[in-house]
Amino acid sequence: MGSASKAFNNMLFAAVLTASMVAVVVSGFQFEVGENMGWRKPTGKEPETYNEWAARNRFHIGDSVHFKYRKDSVLVVSSADYLTCNKSNPISKFDDGNTVFQFDHSGFFYFISGQPGNCESGERLIIRVMHPSEVEAPELAPSPSAGGNSGWNSDNWGPPGVISSSIKLSVVSYFMTVVAALCVMVCLFV
Ligand SMILES: *[C@@H]1O[C@H](CO)[C@@H](O)[C@H](O)[C@H]1NC(C)=O
Repeated sequence: MGSASKAFNNMLFAAVLTASMVAVVVSGFQFEVGENMGWRKPTGKEPETYNEWAARNRFHIGDSVHFKYRKDSVLVVSSADYLTCNKSNPISKFDDGNTVFQFDHSGFFYFISGQPGNCESGERLIIRVMHPSEVEAPELAPSPSAGGNSGWNSDNWGPPGVISSSIKLSVVSYFMTVVAALCVMVCLFV
């Protein structure tokens, strides 16, 4: 093949690599609130509360939570209104049954149900979105699985260094995969 097609391949390589880098930075993870059961008034037989679920997860800026519900609503409220289940002055209110809420900053987000009595029964959720400085923890964990059960709970909002390292590792391995795949493609066609 001529040098023109080589140049074209190099350009293609650069373009695809750039696009995949942008995709990683921009896209967030979408969490499913309540997993299979969705957003509803707890019966008390659930394996965990909404906040226990939230405590098991790490939320980053750009991530979102998906609420699936029927005859219910999602109110974003202040911490004071969360504590008292006060539904009278929400920051935002959603009742379309299928709500995706994206985190645009770090810190705490408070969600309660707008149905009478539901918040009081445990249909409420606190999510803490990690600050970027926590995500860029410098040390690398020996294994991504090391942080599986790290004693993280609603009383302990300490920085999850091990988990953020594993996220960094997975981003690195994603890039290695993309780069390797592209090298193979370019080598085949040159
Ligand atoms: C709920 O909040 C509103 C506005 O802040 C307040 O006027 C009301 O008294 C509160 N209701 C309860 C039950 O605390």
